[in-house]
Amino acid sequence: MTARLPEPSADERAHSDHLLAMMREDIAVNGPMPFSRFMERALYTPGLGYYSAGKAKFGAEGDFVTAPELGPLFAQCVVRSLKPILASLGDEAEFLELGGGSGSFAEVAIGAMQREGVLPRRYMILEPSADLRERQRERLALALAPDVFARVVWLDAPPEESWAGVLFANEVIDALPTTRFTMRDGEVYEEYVVLDGDGRLGITYRPADALVGGAVRHVERDLGRDFEAGYRTEILPQLPYWMQAVAGTLEKGAMLFIDYGYPRSEFYLPERTDGTLRAFYRHYMHADALHAPGLQDITASVDFTALAEAGNNAGFGVAAYVPQAQFLIASGLQEFFEEGYMGTEDEATRYRLAQQVKKLTMPDEMGERFQAMLFARGLNAVVLPAELMLEDRGSRL
Ligand SMILES: C[S@@+](CC[C@H](N)C(=O)[O-])C[C@H]1O[C@@H](n2cnc3c(N)ncnc32)[C@H](O)[C@@H]1O
Repeated sequence: MTARLPEPSADERAHSDHLLAMMREDIAVNGPMPFSRFMERALYTPGLGYYSAGKAKFGAEGDFVTAPELGPLFAQCVVRSLKPILASLGDEAEFLELGGGSGSFAEVAIGAMQREGVLPRRYMILEPSADLRERQRERLALALAPDVFARVVWLDAPPEESWAGVLFANEVIDALPTTRFTMRDGEVYEEYVVLDGDGRLGITYRPADALVGGAVRHVERDLGRDFEAGYRTEILPQLPYWMQAVAGTLEKGAMLFIDYGYPRSEFYLPERTDGTLRAFYRHYMHADALHAPGLQDITASVDFTALAEAGNNAGFGVAAYVPQAQFLIASGLQEFFEEGYMGTEDEATRYRLAQQVKKLTMPDEMGERFQAMLFARGLNAVVLPAELMLEDRGSRL
């Protein structure tokens, strides 16, 4: 499976070996490591994890391209969709971006908020990676006027005081460390990472604890079907707790999550017998999550029904659930495209703009694979964007 992957450089190999040595020691001392902990370590170990070390990651030189990396259209549309909500909250409004990546979303979004007259009191970024935080800071300090940059704050933890405004996260839920499980004799078994005799990483299964077992049984009940023997997939049993932690103090406002994924019935299709977990290494997508820890991204699709349940538990209602293409089209995509197109005579720039629209909206690119889920709490229904409400597919959840 990994045979055709590009070879890491000597430096990269040494980097990965360093992280591997730490994992081996952990397993030797503590025994088999739940897959979710392996993923957390592979992505977020300070200084060594995929998101925590200095690798390019995003864009053409990196491993994958996210919507904000393609160009400004995505962030412009997101701001347009949230404008009525931010405007209704007036001076109270704050904005919290989870997982700011390279800072490309924040840079365009803050400019668009200024132009739309809805610049929030504070633009907060909650980013676990110290390396990414530094890159975001450098980028925004260069791009923004000093008085606007002064509104940007990096948080170490979700806000403790109650606040009003909007929480936004693009491609963050897919990066949360996921639990993997399989079924044996009608019982739930959780996946663990172990060492073989040569010190290589491998997997084993152990009976699931009450948290994981309970979460799997809940999904089975909701689907009205028991998982077949050997069915292997992912679940985020901690999602409701995570949601409560990041959004519990958002008393009035909205949350917008955009990510790739499906409603539960599609996520756990009987024929999807090996889950949705994927690794990305220099634009190669493959299934070996244990390959070269620290050098590759690891991600799983989002069960949007689970996300809706977690939001409901935290006191929010789902206001809209829409494929990304419809979300962007209902949020001014055509207008922003035309503005960009007419604003230049350069054919290459126009071509790139057209390519951006294609990537964001074509069904086999991001248009149908990505979904937008908007939650609201304590808001007057009238302030929710009408065009978006018309596109709602919430009945599929
Ligand atoms: C795939 S990247 C997406 C980055 C950016 N949102 C974009 O669209 O380009 C995932 C981001 O989520 C961050 N992240 C992971 N877990 C997080 C958490 N629990 N809270 C906030 N951010 C998180 C990562 O560090 C990274 O910045």
